[in-house]
Amino acid sequence: MAEQADVMELAKRRGFFFGSNEAYGGVAGFYTFGPQGAALKRNVEAAWRDQFTVKLGNDEIEAPTIMPEPVFEASGHLDGFDDMLVECAECGESHRADHLVEDAIEGIEDAEALGIEAVADLIAEHDLACPACDAALAGEPVEDFNLMFETAIGPGSGQPGYLRPETAQGIFVEFPRLKEYARGQLPFGVTQIGPAYRNEISPRRGIIRVREFTQAELEQFIDPEADEPPIDEVADVAVTLYPAPEQEADDGGYVETTIGEAVADGTIASPWVGYFLGVAQAWYERVGIDTDRFRFRQHRSGERAHYASDCWDAEAEISGNWIEIAGFAYRGDYDLSKHAEHSGDRFTVFKRYDEPKTIEAATVDPDMATLGPEFGADAGDVADALASLAKHDPAAFDADTVTVEVDGDSYTVDSDVANFSIEERTESGEHITPHVIEPSFGVGRTVYALIEHAYATDAVDGETRAYLSLVPEIAPTDVAVFPLVSDDRLVELANEIASSLRHEGVSVAYDDSGSIGRRYRRQDEIGTAFCVTVDRDGIEGDGDATVTVRERDTAEQVRVPVPSLSAELSALFDPESDRTFADLRAAYGAVETTVTTDSS
Ligand code: ATP
Ligand code: GLY
Repeated sequence: MAEQADVMELAKRRGFFFGSNEAYGGVAGFYTFGPQGAALKRNVEAAWRDQFTVKLGNDEIEAPTIMPEPVFEASGHLDGFDDMLVECAECGESHRADHLVEDAIEGIEDAEALGIEAVADLIAEHDLACPACDAALAGEPVEDFNLMFETAIGPGSGQPGYLRPETAQGIFVEFPRLKEYARGQLPFGVTQIGPAYRNEISPRRGIIRVREFTQAELEQFIDPEADEPPIDEVADVAVTLYPAPEQEADDGGYVETTIGEAVADGTIASPWVGYFLGVAQAWYERVGIDTDRFRFRQHRSGERAHYASDCWDAEAEISGNWIEIAGFAYRGDYDLSKHAEHSGDRFTVFKRYDEPKTIEAATVDPDMATLGPEFGADAGDVADALASLAKHDPAAFDADTVTVEVDGDSYTVDSDVANFSIEERTESGEHITPHVIEPSFGVGRTVYALIEHAYATDAVDGETRAYLSLVPEIAPTDVAVFPLVSDDRLVELANEIASSLRHEGVSVAYDDSGSIGRRYRRQDEIGTAFCVTVDRDGIEGDGDATVTVRERDTAEQVRVPVPSLSAELSALFDPESDRTFADLRAAYGAVETTVTTDSS
């Protein structure tokens, strides 16, 4: 199994990702994806878009990354999007207090749920020291630190704004318009792939915890009373679940089940959440996550974000730690209600009844000529309070007098003055606030997990090699083409092959530098599934020219006629096709090489 250091070294050397701004000393928490990493990340995003936007029939938007302060007042991020900070008095280094506790004390996996005071006590009780300078942290205050990056919009003092901490808010604030595009019909889903920013207290583990990262999010808007997901489509998907009660039980463990069973027996409370876990499981398998190192873990009650009533994380085992790579939250009507309350705009949809309904509505029509002289400036508020009472407690108007409270003061009026009545009206529907289920994927963490899960070593010709066994859809490069030696005829044919494959949409690396062994190793390390080599044997003699095609994982080679090359490679890449490298071996014969592969 790969160590984190191996992956980080390979990532930097081969251009997957590396710390940004190194020329200026670097800034923690910012990473640049190099040529291989950017290609891999694009492929992950394309596969995500294919599944969560296109195949699920959703719409994708692209909203700004800076949003004004009222958005985050409404969303709750201004008040509640905090992590626990403890600063070392000796060296000034900042630390995530909950992470210090989790790292140092056996058996504590979610210190955040314990709360600030308990974490401060644990730091003192266990005499935890600053990881940077070893000074004691006992007695240092543990404080909430808001993770949003603040900025000023416009010149001067400007208008306060924030870099969005999740792409989701860009979808929620546009709901009044987005519902129009969906013609007011629930359910509908809106996706977005883009950057999110969090001023993490202690960024760490490479691209796992950074301050700028890409999220791929789907906000699924539903009518909670009426809309059901197509659960049958994923009922048979096998999953490893780690429900909250299992985490809390002394002898708790994983539940190996199917989505259908887990929803039916209530292990997953919301069928919509279950549906998305099933879709996600299949997607992770498609892109190459090692399912033996993957699970869905339910949040325990103290762990959930302020907006979620239930949440399951997709977690991948990375360098011996379980890391969240996606979250699946039931956000209810939290976000849309908050934005409605704060903005005054309409974050509802009109739900038409099958048949118009006759509704009995209690109303009042207070006699202001009486209320005015009696209550002066408060008369309007008293009238509003009477109207509200009529809705909530119509029986209160049966008595001779009725009493309401306004700002803590009681006002009593004759019931006749209120002019209470029950009116019948016919309604064709009602305005409802949709509920939201949100699959939220971290693209960088997915990329990291895919690289680590694909990392393998073995020995070829007695020489140890590392290679990435990435699935072709995700690998940064599809095919590498080499002339074996620098002979003009070989170079010319290799260039022709590279160019014609590129025109067919295949991503091709052309490499003519260094020994053939070194060129194979370079491609192995970036996960290129097939290398095509043009050699003299292939162009001499009568008949079609031939080339060798080498498979990355086995390092085996077959000799394929050039006219068949493109079709054969396409079949190998096509997920719908059954054609395998073994079929090529059977069709064309293996090349006699000195390659021996021993797993190490
Ligand atoms: P964590 O508990 O690890 O901080 P989180 O619960 O804050 O993660 P969410 O708020 O659910 O994460 O964000 C959704 C997804 O965004 C996560 O599953 C993760 O993949 C990604 N993500 C969140 N924070 C970061 C970060 N600082 N760096 C990289 N990816 C991140
Ligand atoms: N949208 C989920 C999160 O980023 O918290």
